[in-house]
Amino acid sequence: MIKALIFDLDGVITDTAEFHYLSWKRLADEENLSFTREDNEKLRGVSRRQSLELILKGRQISEDTAQDWMARKNRYYQSYLETVTPADRLPGVTEFLTEARELGLKLAIGSASRNAKTVLERLDLLDVFDVVGDGYAVVNTKPAPDLFVWVAGGLGIRVVEGVVFEDAEAGVDAALQAGFWAVGIGRSKVDHAHLHLPNLDGVKVSEVLAHLAELDSTHG
Ligand code: BG6
Ligand code: MG
Repeated sequence: MIKALIFDLDGVITDTAEFHYLSWKRLADEENLSFTREDNEKLRGVSRRQSLELILKGRQISEDTAQDWMARKNRYYQSYLETVTPADRLPGVTEFLTEARELGLKLAIGSASRNAKTVLERLDLLDVFDVVGDGYAVVNTKPAPDLFVWVAGGLGIRVVEGVVFEDAEAGVDAALQAGFWAVGIGRSKVDHAHLHLPNLDGVKVSEVLAHLAELDSTHG
């Protein structure tokens, strides 16, 4: 029986990927690194440190420089976050969370971002979630299963009682490795999830749960 829904934040609840892109792009331009929107797709769901490594494409820099660049990128990102309002919840998110609550489900966030709580505050959603797992919670980031397992511990559920909603390949990998049900959202490589949806607009929680129950009775 499903007891909780666990959401990735960036790309599922709100679209901050563009702000991450613009912030890394500004840093990359200042430091003469080539960085395109296509490169940015690979950064979905991965930590700040891993993002920097992907942008460096093998170029070696000192630890002090790496810390300086990550801090600078984060300052740019945080200035974009000041523009975020509840209107930036992605379409269907408010209705989906409301229905989940009405069905008595627990709700949680599992995000690689250290800015997750700030983003939730700006969206006026911080109080909606029982547990918020963010970039401070665990050492091993997605695709490692650790963050979602940490969230399950906080919720007091077994992994088979939770559904993870993810827009990133690394996030779906993490959810499946941990043993959760996984719903892939959007256009990235999330086809390996149990269910793939373009977004949450017009999607009913009851329909998602019915679909997963059907899969369970067929395969389980
Ligand atoms: C994830 C984003 O949610 O958080 C990644 O999808 C980002 O693109 C990662 O790199 C870390 O975010 P932050 O806010 O800690 O730099
Ligand atoms: Mg995401």
